[in-house]
Amino acid sequence: MLYGKKKVILILIIILFFLCGWVGNISVFAETSNQINTSEPPKLTNEKSIEKVINEMTLEEKAKMVVGRGFPGMFGNPKAEIAGAVGVTHGIERLGIPPLFFADGPAGLRISPFREGDPHTYYATAFPIETSLASTWNKNLVTKVGKAIGNEVKEYGLDILLAPALNLHRNPLGGRNFEYFSEDPLLTGKMAVSYINGVQSNDVGATIKHFVANNQETNRTDIDTIVSQRALRELYLKGFEIAIKEANPWAVMSAYNKVNSAHASENKELLTTVLRDDWDFKGFVMTDWFAGTDPIAQMIAGNDLIMPGDSITLTEFMNALKNSTIDEKILDRDHITEIMNAVKNGTLDESILDRNISKILNILVKTPSFKGYQHSDNPNLQKNAEISRRAGSEGMVLLKNIHKTLPLDENAKIGLFGNTQIETIRGGTGSGYVNAPYTISIADGLKNRGFTVNNDLLQSYKSYITTLRHQEEYKIKPSVLGSEFGLEIPTIPEKPLKAKEINKTVKETDVGVVVIGRISGEFEDRKNEKGDFLLTDREQDMITNVTNEYHASGKKVIVILNIGGPIEVASWRDKPDAILLAWQPGQEAGFAVADVISGLVNPSGKLPTTFPMAYNDVPSAKNFPGTPEENPEKVVYEEDIFMGYRYFTTFDIEPAYEFGYGLSYTTFHFPKVKVKKSKDEVKVSVTVENSGDIPGKEVVQVYISAPDNKLEKPAIELKAFGKTKQLKPKEKDTLKFQLGLKDLASFDEERSAWVVEKGAYQIKVGASSENIYETVIFEVEEDMVVEKVNDILKPKMEINKLSK
Ligand code: BGC
Repeated sequence: MLYGKKKVILILIIILFFLCGWVGNISVFAETSNQINTSEPPKLTNEKSIEKVINEMTLEEKAKMVVGRGFPGMFGNPKAEIAGAVGVTHGIERLGIPPLFFADGPAGLRISPFREGDPHTYYATAFPIETSLASTWNKNLVTKVGKAIGNEVKEYGLDILLAPALNLHRNPLGGRNFEYFSEDPLLTGKMAVSYINGVQSNDVGATIKHFVANNQETNRTDIDTIVSQRALRELYLKGFEIAIKEANPWAVMSAYNKVNSAHASENKELLTTVLRDDWDFKGFVMTDWFAGTDPIAQMIAGNDLIMPGDSITLTEFMNALKNSTIDEKILDRDHITEIMNAVKNGTLDESILDRNISKILNILVKTPSFKGYQHSDNPNLQKNAEISRRAGSEGMVLLKNIHKTLPLDENAKIGLFGNTQIETIRGGTGSGYVNAPYTISIADGLKNRGFTVNNDLLQSYKSYITTLRHQEEYKIKPSVLGSEFGLEIPTIPEKPLKAKEINKTVKETDVGVVVIGRISGEFEDRKNEKGDFLLTDREQDMITNVTNEYHASGKKVIVILNIGGPIEVASWRDKPDAILLAWQPGQEAGFAVADVISGLVNPSGKLPTTFPMAYNDVPSAKNFPGTPEENPEKVVYEEDIFMGYRYFTTFDIEPAYEFGYGLSYTTFHFPKVKVKKSKDEVKVSVTVENSGDIPGKEVVQVYISAPDNKLEKPAIELKAFGKTKQLKPKEKDTLKFQLGLKDLASFDEERSAWVVEKGAYQIKVGASSENIYETVIFEVEEDMVVEKVNDILKPKMEINKLSK
């Protein structure tokens, strides 16, 4: 990695550090300075002791409390106590303050499975990606997943999980969309609440990230997101607001990007006015890793902790990795000294530092590290794998199923096509990657369930993949950030299929199954190109030729999508008889797919994000990833409040599969929908009946259509949802919902308030955003101001907003 003169200089610096005793003596506790009081100092014992302890701290200790300890194990930082924990804070032993340990991420705990000289392994369970969790629309199930992840956090000795991630799917090409729940803020917020409740039931913390409007990867550390206050309040902030008010997450991670021209981590309006004043957030805020440029501005804004707190900037770090060199300059940056100097020269008031430390300590006293919890390093991985499998199958969305193609008869002989049947994708890459012990492939999952998978075809795929993986260009390597961040798996072109091979397989099998796979990850957005949003020519040919041949023999074909975000489907979806969207369902992938294919699990997932007919139908297509095109500096959210299905339903654009859509092996109807409106609430009660002949669950979706008045409104907005229990044929379940005035309100920038405008409101109850069973209308006689908030977050430029 290091070359020539630079290497020599770096080695000299490190030797110097050793000679000075800096590195050799580093303990998990901060060293003390000569300003320390010699009498026995007060110890941190609980919330009440925080003030005294802060008063006792030296300036250096204070600065250390708000700056992380860098990437443990890298670049001269101390050896990692928990290999792969991406964040560690400073402890102060003399004051009874232990260091805290943080680790990613949304689909499971990301730590390293191996430690030097230690035969024990530290694998974590890979759960389905957040988009798949949101597709379950099942709050209890997501709580179970959160609980299982939190259990691994605790038993591996960590304090705070860097998840869930709450950014919205503004554009289907967002590289990290798989880490996020949905395009809708209510579904996002409620799923986050369930997830956080689960994690925090273990007495470890959850972190909601990335606050806010971090909806793309291109130039993510500097992109200036220009967005109206209304779109922020109604969409991008909303999920965070719900999560904070309903689940009290211990931490918030501020985003890399700028929001209306100030870096999110340096934005006082966001981190103090909105988070603390408007929403009463009680936890602490940390930066995203290396985010922002000005640690003093971060402190003042209310960003309590700077992470990872190393002495290098992200750009320097990334360049170093890309160029395989490290400039000695990277060792120059020292946030601790910068903060101490700022206090000394008066640019940072010490009371701000005290305030920030107090926010951190208020959470620290709840952590396992503070309480001296003896972790087992032995979480119940088997039990957690079962939860992962259940969530994986319940998150799958049945997009098409003509002539009852699915479920398959258990004796079915399957011709399995597509590389991804073997290299099945459990999740995405980057910080959302999980070091799981295994991934069950779709081929193995189907075989395990008892299906006969045509062996000649399987072997020919296996040998094709093995041969290509031996070629330099397709070799699997650790990610540039190290194997903890996932593997770099060059995409192998789809295996070419000869007509003879297809014909033979069709003769020997009852049904064809074609698997299409896609993976994306941190640092890069996806592209509207073949091999990414679009199918490759080989994939198109595979679907066409396989379906033609099977259909010619009177047999059927199923397509399984093992993907992390929408792809183009309109050009090929008429060909197969069934399409199952499996998402990236975690380490149990193949088992979970087989559970649904075999009918052991009746699919009940619904889309949390729109599948457009074409990429250009997406309202943000012309403003993603920003301008100038080659190296975008800013991105203007011109679609404003008309994002996702709010756009498709308002402007009558037909999607390929709409938000909330998903089929079942049975049928449901809603025999009774009751809506009762009183002065300040609306009560909705919906009875669902299983009208088919297979047990199953249904999701009830409650939308509101508010009248256009001074403010334009989207055609519909999701306001509540629920899922029935498993209903036997003819069985009924009644779900009840309560909407308050704020649920009916829109954000009026002129009045800086949430207002319910007068006019006719429609409650629409359905099983998707376009499959509405019942509409009930009621009148609001006069305008009502529901909640006044601070008038902030204004864009510094005029936005050419989309309007009806
Ligand atoms: C990501 C965060 C993550 C952090 C630590 C950053 O690059 O944006 O989501 O928690 O790294 O791994």
